[in-house]
Amino acid sequence: MRHLLSLTGLDSGDILDLVSLAAKIKNNAKKYDDTLKNKTMLMIFEKPSLRTRVSFEVAMTQMGGHAIYLDAKDSPLGEKETIADTAKVSSRYCDIIMARLYKQENMEELAKNSSVPVINGLTDEFHPCQILSDLLTIKEKKGKLKGLKLAFVGDGNNNITHELLLGCSTVGIDISVGCPESLMPQKWIADIAVKKAKISGSKIKITQNAKDAVKDADIVYADSWMSYHIPKEEKEKRIKLLNPFQVNKDLIKNAKKDAIFMNCLPAMRGMEQTADVIDGHQSVVFDQAENRLHMQKAIILKLLKEEK
Ligand code: CP
Ligand code: NVA
Repeated sequence: MRHLLSLTGLDSGDILDLVSLAAKIKNNAKKYDDTLKNKTMLMIFEKPSLRTRVSFEVAMTQMGGHAIYLDAKDSPLGEKETIADTAKVSSRYCDIIMARLYKQENMEELAKNSSVPVINGLTDEFHPCQILSDLLTIKEKKGKLKGLKLAFVGDGNNNITHELLLGCSTVGIDISVGCPESLMPQKWIADIAVKKAKISGSKIKITQNAKDAVKDADIVYADSWMSYHIPKEEKEKRIKLLNPFQVNKDLIKNAKKDAIFMNCLPAMRGMEQTADVIDGHQSVVFDQAENRLHMQKAIILKLLKEEK
């Protein structure tokens, strides 16, 4: 693994290695105190963030390194400087780059021109770091990955949905996506997931019926209806379209009794889920958010070949 741009190229061994390294780090964070002494991460952001920005910065600090936050608006990127030049210059200063960009093709261009590892901190299509840490959370809560069923309901044409399809199908979790016909996952990504599912033996279902998707699930997952890249003018239209896919008490009843509820956050109560669900006993969203920190450390160490 030279870069982490999406989960498309990772096999089950790669993912399980990262999950177990993150768990090891979580249980003995002190051991990694000075692992990244004098190492610097550049963090480039075109979109807002709380979790990704803070967890990566804290991860670098706790391991003895340093992180630089660069708001793309305060840099020449895109206006006066190409992505390729940005990558070439940044790699002369920094040991690793993490970027949150709109377009995946720009992420690929950044990585292609960088001589240091590049981590995708979210694009319109993918969010690999989130789903890797979610797999750690699922493992902690359910004691296993293979053989579980995860149901995602909401926007199917979405970075989280795409990575859940890839991550679950790689490690052998059955995944069902409940979404409107006009917001289906992108076909080329779903096709890769189907190939991965053939290898792992997991099942993939995409349906327009939220109840069917959630039926007997071990994990029910919701994500924002208004992802960072969606124009604000679309809000009312999307609320109407996505309302049948809201995770509320009635919908989650169709899942297993001991099902957990996940949302990568940020979340809007009354939109993709009701307050009683996200603040209720099935919700694990804050443990999920905490695990971003432990997984970021694992990802950085793996890419810098510093894992112990
Ligand atoms: N889940 C996640 O990536 O959150 P942020 O947008 O706050 O980074
Ligand atoms: N789908 C969401 C994920 C946020 C972490 C977005 O792109 O805004």
